[in-house]
Amino acid sequence: MSQFSFDQDPEENIPLNNKEEDKKSEKTEGLPARWITAVLGCIGFMIVYGLKVNLSVAIIAMVNHTAVAEMSAHEDGHHIPEDANTTAVENQCGVEEKKEELLDGPFVWDDNVQGVILASYFYGYIFTQVPGGWVADKFSAKHVFGFGALANALLALLTPLAASGSYIWVIVIRVGMGIAGGVTLPGMHVLIANWAPPQERSKIASTIYAGMTLGTLVCMPFSGLLAAAIDWSAIFYVQGGLSLIWYVLWLFFVYDSPAKHPRISVAERTFIESSMGNIGKAEKPPVPWKSVWTSMPVWAIIVAHTCSNWGWYMLLVKLPTYMRYILKFDIKSNAGISAVPFLCMWIFTMLLANILDALRARKLISTTFARKLATFLASIPPAICLIGVTFVGCNTDLAVVLLTLGTMFVGGMYSGFLSNHIDIAPAYAGTLMGITNTFATVPGIVVPSFVGYMTHGNQTVEAWRTIFYITLGIFSLEAIFFCIFGSGEEQPWAKRQAKQDPEEQKLNEGL
Ligand SMILES: *[C@@H]1O[C@H](CO)[C@@H](O)[C@H](O)[C@H]1NC(C)=O
Repeated sequence: MSQFSFDQDPEENIPLNNKEEDKKSEKTEGLPARWITAVLGCIGFMIVYGLKVNLSVAIIAMVNHTAVAEMSAHEDGHHIPEDANTTAVENQCGVEEKKEELLDGPFVWDDNVQGVILASYFYGYIFTQVPGGWVADKFSAKHVFGFGALANALLALLTPLAASGSYIWVIVIRVGMGIAGGVTLPGMHVLIANWAPPQERSKIASTIYAGMTLGTLVCMPFSGLLAAAIDWSAIFYVQGGLSLIWYVLWLFFVYDSPAKHPRISVAERTFIESSMGNIGKAEKPPVPWKSVWTSMPVWAIIVAHTCSNWGWYMLLVKLPTYMRYILKFDIKSNAGISAVPFLCMWIFTMLLANILDALRARKLISTTFARKLATFLASIPPAICLIGVTFVGCNTDLAVVLLTLGTMFVGGMYSGFLSNHIDIAPAYAGTLMGITNTFATVPGIVVPSFVGYMTHGNQTVEAWRTIFYITLGIFSLEAIFFCIFGSGEEQPWAKRQAKQDPEEQKLNEGL
């Protein structure tokens, strides 16, 4: 194996039909390289998302609630905590839960400071989407993603030190984590473009992106355990430390493309490269910005991604809030139940991806149809579930079922618009993901203020119904716009000038 160095142009040096080499590689590598990449990518996203969400658990253990309560009592009640005005208004379902006793931590951060700390991640995240995608397209997707996750791990390790200084430093750390986290999604998209054969694209993309959900799913209870068993700083030290192990594996097992992988079997490399035509072989020309901004399939992804994030945020964050305030049922305190929606989502995501890939491989459906169907499933059924919850009265079981179904169907997005950038412009997959995710980050900033404005002093079913009907409109816009303008075909402006090798062309046509 040692004859392959990273800088060699492998196309000229590795004979594609060297049987002996092939056998040797098959032996050393049980799992195909693209699936090792997918699994490590999934864990990478678990890290990025885990380290993003763990703060919401950690901060509860970090704040001195007694001191904060005393402080706000002195401020003549200008500031009305969110819970105070809610319990009195509507109390038709069940009994008021007793407020749980929160253990005090060392920091006196009032609600505003906590809010800024929790939101500061977004302010970094939104600015590095496009540059991150561009660098990944142009240079190395492996290192863009690896750097993003590594920086998050290192900054997490520094969080306890920062907190002991001042909350300002915690905000700086969180903005930094956002900046680094912002490059991971576009970076990974480029890696998928280089590694996933079109007929496996939904499966591989879904496996990797499932890490975002799994990270949240694993990290929240894990953080709670660490805080209870040791203390809040253990959350950052243990999770940051474990992430460093992942980074070492990432460096050794993941490469930018099959051609750059020193240990991939010849069979696998031939399979991937021949199924993708010229991707990765041609010179990458600069991004044709005008064509990008005037392309309707690009706008279809922008609209779908943005609308979907609005709805996803509603389901993930606001529907549980609704259930807590209106139905008096706190799903978060039911550790057993709160994981079920995500588990169902994961199963649905993987099933749908496998079905759609199988149908596409057999040419029973087009890629365009697959993307549209999956995007439709990710928008309309969740919208119906969301509205449905406002009609179940006090039936919390039914509400949980609807929440679960809604969350499950959103999983369709991974086989839908979220894999679509690679279909329409594989050469610019990272840049495109950067663009659509920049737009898609806006709902994360807007939704909390919007819901706060609508429900301030007005925690009623009617107020929430209005919110959810607006969300139905937004989900419908996603489905309609994407089904009209979306495409699964490589766009003419995205086609690269291939330095076509006639030998290679014959091989591609033969397959
Ligand atoms: C929290 O604040 C209260 C009141 O200011 C103080 O008595 C208590 O010692 C503080 N607790 C911690 C853990 O710092």
